[in-house]
Amino acid sequence: MSIDYSEKIPNNVNLSEDRTLKRALEQWQPNYLHWWQDMGPEGSTDYDVYLRTAVSVDPQGWAQFGYVKMPEYRWGIFLNPGEKDRKIHFGDHKGEPVWQDVPGEHRANLRRIIVTQGDTEPASVEQQRHLGLTCPSQYDLRNLFQVNVEEGRHLWAMVYLLHKYFGRDGREEGEALLERRSGNQDNPRILQAFNEKTPDWLSFFMFTYFTDRDGKFQLCALAESSFDPLARTTKFMLTEEAHHMFVGESGVSRVIQRTCQVMNELKTDDPGKLRAAGVIDLLTIQRYLNFHFSVTIDLFGADESSNAATFYSSGLKGRFEEGKRTDDHQLRGLTYKVLHAEGDRLVEKDVPMPNALNEVLRDDYIRDSIGGVERWNKVIEKAGIPFRLRVPHKAFNRKIGSLAGIKVSPDGRAVHDHEWNMSVEQWLPTDEDRAFVASLMGRVIEPGKFANWIAPPAIGINRQPVDFEYVRFN
Ligand SMILES: [Fe+2]
Ligand SMILES: [Fe+2]
Repeated sequence: MSIDYSEKIPNNVNLSEDRTLKRALEQWQPNYLHWWQDMGPEGSTDYDVYLRTAVSVDPQGWAQFGYVKMPEYRWGIFLNPGEKDRKIHFGDHKGEPVWQDVPGEHRANLRRIIVTQGDTEPASVEQQRHLGLTCPSQYDLRNLFQVNVEEGRHLWAMVYLLHKYFGRDGREEGEALLERRSGNQDNPRILQAFNEKTPDWLSFFMFTYFTDRDGKFQLCALAESSFDPLARTTKFMLTEEAHHMFVGESGVSRVIQRTCQVMNELKTDDPGKLRAAGVIDLLTIQRYLNFHFSVTIDLFGADESSNAATFYSSGLKGRFEEGKRTDDHQLRGLTYKVLHAEGDRLVEKDVPMPNALNEVLRDDYIRDSIGGVERWNKVIEKAGIPFRLRVPHKAFNRKIGSLAGIKVSPDGRAVHDHEWNMSVEQWLPTDEDRAFVASLMGRVIEPGKFANWIAPPAIGINRQPVDFEYVRFN
C-alpha cells in the first residue's frame, strides 16, 4: 500500500497498470491546476508553505512536513488498505461480500452521492480564496493553506472514483466539478452552505468547526459503504479531516480567550467598549455560532427522506459508527422521533427509522458539535466570566425539511413573524457585526506576531515553535 511518488499523479492504486484511467486522469490534472490557479488561495503561487503531505496510509506516520509551493503540492490518490473478505454489514444485502465494482442498479445513486460529496471540496477552497490576504498570523495562514490543499486532494479522491467506475459519465462529472463556482448565480455549487461567503476569519473558524464536521459525518457514513473503493477512499479522507476541525475549534477558542482577557483587563462586558478595544464581543461570537450551526445542520437534508431509506437499504450509505450499533442493521420495525412543524407548533412524531436516517445523522452530528462548544465555555469559565455560549435549537433558522416552515427562537420557542423580525438582530450576525469583524481583519505576517483579536496558540505545528517561519513569501 505504499505510495508511488515517481508517477505524475502520486497514488497507491497501481495507476500505472491501468493505462486508460491514467491517461484520463492525466488529462484532468491540468484542468484541475488551472482551476487552482483561478480559484485557489489568492496571490499565493510563489509562497513556500510548511505543509504536510501524505506519504503513506499507515496511521502511524502517514504525513511528512516540508516547504512546498502550493501549485506543486503532490495531490494524489490514496485509499486505505482493503479489508480481507469484508462483508456488507447493513441493509438488504447484509452478509454478502462488498462490491469492488458498481452494481448497475445502484449506479445513478452512487454517482449522485460521490458528486455531491466531491462538489463540497473545491467549493470550500473557493469560499476561502481571499482569506490569506487578511490572516491574523503566519501560523493561521499556514493552517488555512493546509486545509485548502487537502480539500483539493479530497476532490481528487472523488474524481478518481468517478473516472475509474463511471466511464464517460464520470469523466463529464469530473469536468463539471471544476466548472461550478461557489456563490455563482448561473452555476452554483450543489449545497447551499457551500454557496455562502466565508468573508472573515471568525467565519472561517466557525466553518471549519461546524461545516467540516458535517464533512466528517458524511464521510463516516460513506466509510461504511458496500461499495468498497468508496469506503476505503473516505476512510483516508477522514484522517486529513481531523486537522480541519482542529483549526476551527482552536481558532474560535483563541478568539474567545483573547476577548475574555480584554474583558478582564477593562472590567467590562459592554460590546461597544470591547469593540473599541479591538476584540470580538461574546454576543457577536454567539450570533456567528448560531448562523454557522443552523446553516450546517441543513446539509443533512430533509428530516424524512425516502432517498435516505434507499441509500441505507441498498447498502450505499450507512449510519455513523454503524459497526458499533447493536440493532439488526436493517432497521426492521424501528421508528425514530422526528421533530416537525404542525402549523405554528413543534411536535414530535414517530417516523419509520429508514426514512429518518438524515435526522439520525443530524442528531449524531449535533451531539458531537456540542462537545467543542462546551470546551469553549471552559475558556470563558476559567476567565471567571459568567457567560456561556449555546448551540441553538435545531429548529432555529432552518431552510430545509419540515422545520423550514416555522420560525423558532434559538432557545426553541415557536415565534410569530413579528417577534422574529424584532429579535433576529440578536440571533444572527447583522451587517454591522460583519462590518465590525471585517474591520479587524488586517494582515499580520511577521513570525510570532498575532492580530489583536486572537490569542496565540499554545503550541506550533508539528512541534515547531509558535514563531516558526510557516510561510516564506519570496
Ligand atoms: Fe474535505
Ligand atoms: Fe475539510
